[in-house]
Amino acid sequence: MNQARRWPTLPASAPGGPKIDIAVLASGSGTNLQALTDTPSIRRRIVTVVSDRADAFALERARGAGISTSVVDWNDYPDRDSFSAALADTVEQAGAKGVVLAGFMKILAPSFVERFPGRILNIHPSLLPAFPGARAVESALEHGVKTTGLTVHFVDEQVDHGPIVSQVAVPVRDDDNVETLHERIQREEHLLYPRVVEAFVSGRITVDGGRVRWS
Ligand code: GRF
Repeated sequence: MNQARRWPTLPASAPGGPKIDIAVLASGSGTNLQALTDTPSIRRRIVTVVSDRADAFALERARGAGISTSVVDWNDYPDRDSFSAALADTVEQAGAKGVVLAGFMKILAPSFVERFPGRILNIHPSLLPAFPGARAVESALEHGVKTTGLTVHFVDEQVDHGPIVSQVAVPVRDDDNVETLHERIQREEHLLYPRVVEAFVSGRITVDGGRVRWS
């Protein structure tokens, strides 16, 4: 899709105004979810955690934090559109106005993105636009880059794409493998994502013509 998306030019909510309740979507171990629930001002805004997998450890973490959980199982739906519609219904029924992806491994249909315009955040383990996709850390090592990192961005209709909110660089060491490099990236994720999500739920992030400003 080459056509530029029209992004809202207003803050997601007025600073000092009502906070944004969020749903967190996670498929895996949920260490980023944990970093969010460990931040009290964010924990108060998480109305549900949704996974596409009943066995995701992220659901255990959510229950441990006293957050309601749901599973929208990919296998129960004939295609991406119907899966995404059910997911969006679940998010809305929980009362969430924003969506935070924390290791959610299914690609969302454009119809999902349209239901939460400018209100879906994702975290990705590379310096986008380098290395989109599920093998970001492997690809960085295969290309021999000396610096990689992490990106928090708003989600548009393309995979790992949309206005960038913040990035942190992580040096690649000569003896790094996928595990060691991903671990150092994740350490930075656990610091950055709570900062961004806190700003998001407080209405301190503005998307203006594809550029993001936040304080
Ligand atoms: C993170 O590295 C994130 O960047 C990527 O998926 C991973 C999720 O890890 N999108 P966790 O489930 O939060 O531990």
